[in-house]
Amino acid sequence: MQLQTFLIRQRGDMDIRSIDWNEIWKQHNPEGRDEERTRIYWDNRASSFATGVEDDFYVNQFLTLIDPCPEWRVLDVGCASGTLAIPLAGRVRQVTGVDISGAMLDGLRAGCEKGGIGNVKTVRASWTDDWRALAIEPHDLVIASRSLIVADLRQAIAKLDRFALRRVCISTPVGDGPQDPAMLGAVGRRRRGGADYIYVYNLLYQMGLQANLQFLTSRGQRTYPDKETLFLRMRDKVGEMLPQEEKALRDYIDHSFVLREGRWQRREPRSIRWAVMWWDKD
Ligand SMILES: C[S@@+](CC[C@H](N)C(=O)[O-])C[C@H]1O[C@@H](n2cnc3c(N)ncnc32)[C@H](O)[C@@H]1O
Repeated sequence: MQLQTFLIRQRGDMDIRSIDWNEIWKQHNPEGRDEERTRIYWDNRASSFATGVEDDFYVNQFLTLIDPCPEWRVLDVGCASGTLAIPLAGRVRQVTGVDISGAMLDGLRAGCEKGGIGNVKTVRASWTDDWRALAIEPHDLVIASRSLIVADLRQAIAKLDRFALRRVCISTPVGDGPQDPAMLGAVGRRRRGGADYIYVYNLLYQMGLQANLQFLTSRGQRTYPDKETLFLRMRDKVGEMLPQEEKALRDYIDHSFVLREGRWQRREPRSIRWAVMWWDKD
């Protein structure tokens, strides 16, 4: 058989349903495998996570899409210091924030205290813990915004679906998402992971979940009080570096960041695209 005919036959035989999207996800997203490392990473980020970024656009759009009823209870998985849990608390009956990072949950509790918010409960738990054993109950709405940092995506989605009484809503990056390929390239590293929203959406399809899909852009730019904080933050994203790589990172920062109104920020703002997917329970 000629090569061309063979390839056409091969393509003709290909069936998208035979692709194991969860297996591909596992290969592309190694981050979720080491939960202890993940916890340390997010604990270290907690003090600066809620500050230095104006991201009201993402939050407002996400809340408009999930459209919760005032009498609902909401389970927010990977809630961090309350990006969504705090604004949600004013709109619904009760919010339960779940996160692997105790420092993030400290931030959420501090935010609630500051805002006089009394209807937010926190539970320190990871995606893979036994939520029932931690007294987490099914909620009307379950959300996982920018927090699907998991090794087994199928298991995580099935768990969200099981704990939702009415609606599930997740969001994941489009393309590079928050990763900065220019910065990684400057220090000789490749982008980690590669499974963006399309892997998730295909898996939802395979799981029989017909999700709505909407794209959002985070417009908020993170800003930093000084260059050393900025350097340490970027270094966290890269991992361990040799002295010459650290020098390359400092050169990248000098070239790509400027001081505006007393804070360091990107010379050219970067937009980050997110895909929000949501489905109602039957
Ligand atoms: C990018 S933040 C997202 C925060 C918030 N949902 C938002 O949209 O701004 C990711 C959060 O997921 C949490 N997280 C990461 N891995 C987790 C795991 N295995 N179990 C539970 N939470 C996890 C982190 O601690 C962090 O607070």
